[in-house]
Amino acid sequence: MSHDVHQVRSFEHPGEGRKRAKATPKGRQIDPTAAHDIERLLGDRPRRRDLLIEHLHLIQDKYHQISAGHLAALAEEMKLSFAEVFETATFYAHFDIVKEGQPDIAPLTIRVCDSLTCAMLGGEKLLQDLQDSAGPTIRVVRAPCVGRCDTAPAAEVGHNFVDHARVIISDVRRALSELGGARDAFDLVFVDAPFKDDMSAEVLTLLTGLDLVAPGGWIVVEQSKRAPDAPPAPSGHERVLVATIGDHRIAFYRRPSAAPDDN
Ligand code: FES
Repeated sequence: MSHDVHQVRSFEHPGEGRKRAKATPKGRQIDPTAAHDIERLLGDRPRRRDLLIEHLHLIQDKYHQISAGHLAALAEEMKLSFAEVFETATFYAHFDIVKEGQPDIAPLTIRVCDSLTCAMLGGEKLLQDLQDSAGPTIRVVRAPCVGRCDTAPAAEVGHNFVDHARVIISDVRRALSELGGARDAFDLVFVDAPFKDDMSAEVLTLLTGLDLVAPGGWIVVEQSKRAPDAPPAPSGHERVLVATIGDHRIAFYRRPSAAPDDN
């Protein structure tokens, strides 16, 4: 079904067509842009009820959140009630629901496990340190056990788990040189250098020179958008994306995975 994105349509009751169901919604309107988004996102996928969670994941992954408009559009597209879609989405901690009138959620979420084992092994301090040091483009929230109790305290950055997570507050050159060679390489590194004397390029060089990023790993660099440019990709890495969010510029670098015959 294609939608005219300029026309606001009434929500169609999922029971419409059945004998006793009312054809009119309780005042909820479908935002045409949201309807268009959902229609494109679902493409040829079936609209079956048992795929509701899968479709919610699609929205969450693409938009980093699920707005009330997208929920209503999904409900209509799948011929489900808004209440059913809303209740399912809000039941799971991994769906970030944004109600009407609420601000958008930061593009990156770090979930810190606050269940018993992690709490006993430094989870609360980790949470506090992250909340104190994360910039406005990162949201830090509590989460129930993520199943990595043997490597507590655990956190989840986007879809990536971090074992034995900790925040290091130290001179960056000294901290990196101490980390170099002292442990396995990292799958994910955030570089949030002070804006006034941007050290992003230097930190990138140190990270890669000390071989601190694992094959297939990522580096995320946050700068002021007023900085001249995102640093170029260091040797052996590729710069995949540069995005501006508010006053910040975020650049993503990836170290390609080792080819099978390199092992
Ligand atoms: S208690 Fe934190 S991962 Fe299980």
